[in-house]
Amino acid sequence: MGMSPASTSAPTDPGRLLLLYDLACAFATRLELDDLVTLVVEQCQEVFEAEGASVLLHDRESDELFFPFVVSRDPEVAAQLASLRFPADRGIAGSVLQTSEPIRVDDGETDERVYRGADEETGTTTKSMLCVPLTTREGTIGVIQLVNHRGGTPFPPDDEAFLVTLAGSVAVAIDNARMYATLRASEERLKTQVGSLRRDLARQDRFSQIVGTSSAMAQVFELMESAASTPITVLIEGETGTGKELVAQGIHKASSRAANAFVAVNCAALPETLLESELFGHRRGAFTGASHDRVGLFESARGGTVFLDEVGDMPATMQAKLLRVLQEGEIVPVGDNRPRKIDIRVISATNRDLQREVGEQNFREDLFYRLSTFPIRLPALRERREDIGPIAARMVETVAKRYEKRIDGITPEALVLLERHEWPGNVRELQNELERACALTRTGDPIVPEKLSAKVTGAPESGPPPPTARPSAPSVPAAAGASAGSHPAGSLGSLREARSAFEADFIRRTLETEGGNITRAAKAMGLSRVALQKKMKDYGLR
Ligand SMILES: Nc1ncnc2c1ncn2[C@@H]1O[C@H](COP(=O)(O)OP(=O)(O)OP(=O)(O)O)[C@@H](O)[C@H]1O
Ligand SMILES: [Mg+2]
Repeated sequence: MGMSPASTSAPTDPGRLLLLYDLACAFATRLELDDLVTLVVEQCQEVFEAEGASVLLHDRESDELFFPFVVSRDPEVAAQLASLRFPADRGIAGSVLQTSEPIRVDDGETDERVYRGADEETGTTTKSMLCVPLTTREGTIGVIQLVNHRGGTPFPPDDEAFLVTLAGSVAVAIDNARMYATLRASEERLKTQVGSLRRDLARQDRFSQIVGTSSAMAQVFELMESAASTPITVLIEGETGTGKELVAQGIHKASSRAANAFVAVNCAALPETLLESELFGHRRGAFTGASHDRVGLFESARGGTVFLDEVGDMPATMQAKLLRVLQEGEIVPVGDNRPRKIDIRVISATNRDLQREVGEQNFREDLFYRLSTFPIRLPALRERREDIGPIAARMVETVAKRYEKRIDGITPEALVLLERHEWPGNVRELQNELERACALTRTGDPIVPEKLSAKVTGAPESGPPPPTARPSAPSVPAAAGASAGSHPAGSLGSLREARSAFEADFIRRTLETEGGNITRAAKAMGLSRVALQKKMKDYGLR
């Protein structure tokens, strides 16, 4: 080789040292693949005096070579190349990839190895080329390719040696960048997962006091979630003890107002005049005994939530005043004539059928529509019997802790009885029942049927009869020997009584499921029609 013109670009050339230095710094600090490849090709193009420089990477899945980043003096050529993919055994780049050996082409126009496809795509002519492998521990991952040495001369042989050395570090850097990208991607994925799990947890936490896995309750939770995310006015409807207040609190806690007050007012508990000053406050001297100004509940709940419990019991004049609050967002304290703006969210609850109350003119229609923008109906416990087990378990745990007793859960027999009961008082009644059972149960024992009250165990002398197919006579015939109060509370009475009670209940339920059809019910129970009719007569059914 000797001292050819190529010696001007020997590895000790200051431009080359600068390139090495720049790249070393970049490898140490830049981890993004795009940045890295950009830098490498830009620098190579300059230092090696090439018209075009590119890094081609091997896509193992499709076994193709592609250009993750291209620089060219002609941006159009760059754009063409960027979209180009070709089989990994094609052309000079393909050979270098397969053999992991560098190739220098001095006369591209006659060299058979040059892939013409790329030239056709880009409308250029390959005159000279220098192509070296990018090799890592895992093998050759791609190539660096320089096209057309400026001035029309071939790339000097020294350039090849230098580019080979350089390619060694570039390959490692690309490998690292890829690893980094993989880690970044999995970090992003994990972040997303953690975020969604955290939201799930937060939701569980917010609504954690409300136990229920039935589909009816799942629907309630969904509605609560939607209600919590907006300031919409919510009306919660449900029988007594279904958890209306719990739901109202849950919505508040899950809403953006959670940090502010949740103020509950029982509209049925106060006489009209007191209710007004309680809600809106009053001015000193507004009425006898009003010795100083008083801030009303609406005002004290500023930025928070006011829960109007038993809103169906609100007197008519108060209904008109409440309507004003909802329509205008302002209150007028008693004895004052200046309305004040307030920012509150209203959630109300009722165990009445408000729509019917409207029909009977006991409740203002306009107020009803204002309150019930977003209604949530809470199902009665008998409509979601599968929730009884989980709710009971949670309650026993809580009560046991309070009593400082160890209660070993509820036996399956006792649970069957709890699930079968109609629960007119809903969750609250269930709670009372379990409180009593826990008190009666010795520490270390589970709750057994004997500790449940007669109304739950179905003992004949107490408890309301089931609401459907209510028998006119006592549900157990006198012949069974039941006499009111014949056994102590908590005892189940005789087996015969229990059997009769069960039989009556069983027949009643079967009739119910069979839509009252005696023939079908008899068949379902393996009885003759006559036998069933006799039993029904005995038990006073139908
Ligand atoms: N799904 C539930 N899970 C656990 N506890 C519940 C559930 N629903 C209600 N409770 C409990 O039952 C009791 C009654 O609930 P709450 O006071 O919210 O009912 P309510 O519908 O407001 O009743 P009322 O109409 O009689 O005022 C409370 O002690 C509450 O904690
Ligand atoms: Mg309530």
